[in-house]
Amino acid sequence: MSRAVSVASLSKSYGRLKALDNISFEVDEREIFGFLGPNGAGKTTAIKIMLGLTRPDKGHVEIFGIDVQSKPDRARENIGYVSQNLSLSNEITGYENLLISAKLYGVPSSIRKSRITEIMDLLGIQDRANDLVKKYSGGMMRRLEIGAALVHRPRLLILDEPTIGLDPQVRLVVRELLRRLVDEFGITIFLTTHDMGEADELCEKIAIINSGKIGVVDTPTNLKRSVGGDSIQFETKAPEKALSILTGKFGDTKPIAKNNTISMIVNSAETALPLLINTLTRAGVIVDAIHSHRPTLDDVFLKYAGSRLTDVEREGDYSHVKQVRRTFRRMR
Ligand SMILES: Nc1ncnc2c1ncn2[C@@H]1O[C@H](COP(=O)(O)OP(=O)(O)OP(=O)(O)O)[C@@H](O)[C@H]1O
Ligand SMILES: [Mg+2]
Repeated sequence: MSRAVSVASLSKSYGRLKALDNISFEVDEREIFGFLGPNGAGKTTAIKIMLGLTRPDKGHVEIFGIDVQSKPDRARENIGYVSQNLSLSNEITGYENLLISAKLYGVPSSIRKSRITEIMDLLGIQDRANDLVKKYSGGMMRRLEIGAALVHRPRLLILDEPTIGLDPQVRLVVRELLRRLVDEFGITIFLTTHDMGEADELCEKIAIINSGKIGVVDTPTNLKRSVGGDSIQFETKAPEKALSILTGKFGDTKPIAKNNTISMIVNSAETALPLLINTLTRAGVIVDAIHSHRPTLDDVFLKYAGSRLTDVEREGDYSHVKQVRRTFRRMR
């Protein structure tokens, strides 16, 4: 298996802010690799450096063995890029959008038409080629955006938050398309997401990224296994007191509190639960509700990033993307 992406010791600061702090990872050919992290983690910054659009302060990137800093054009010939924001023109047809993209990606004029037909067939929207994009459904638009990044037959597709702001059924359509691109065409995919379910289902490998640092890189199964125990959550009206009593007593991860909910990882829920309730009750802390489950990626995130992804996530920050997409659909 050869290497599609090789990122070594990359750092990038904006003033005092370390957007990326010495990150390294490798993506093998024909795999779906996901960057899982909250707002401001550094995901888009990493992509811009991989595309040769932003210069890192330190470190380097190779795309199929081509150094991005010294040969950005040659590296980019191999990459299709789907940005975080909407990139289609809705007042022209799907065909015309792909034509613009083919020109931008430097597809020779003699093969542009056949290449666009090929993409339309792949996306299953050939009968809508000459309709204005504003008449497309959300799923068709998103497929077209992905198709627009494939016109030059790249070996690597980079997608920044490919399913953000989409309805659940459209998310599914996008995931199926990405899986097909790998299975049928041998494309390598690098994507960013803040959606744990998506990372878990779609990615062969995941890097957990938070505040510019990669906590760990591994397969979803290994990551969940590495949490090595059970996850416990309980409700109490005295979270601070509960935290001080429990810290250091169960497992090696620190319990964390969000409002009145305490989350923690223990070696075995079966043995820890009675002990935990006993310890808290003796200290006068009343436990209102308690439950345990096998580790999820959220627990993995807690272990390697020191917080829950759902806590650091600020859904509101995506409202502009959702708004654009909604407006886009209303204009049909
Ligand atoms: N051009 C810039 N100038 C100053 N600060 C920047 C710039 N680009 C990014 N940042 C900052 O760097 C940090 C990382 O930003 P980045 O866009 O890479 O995060 P992200 O993981 O893509 O977040 P999101 O999920 O919101 O898209 C953020 O704190 C951001 O404000
Ligand atoms: Mg981003």
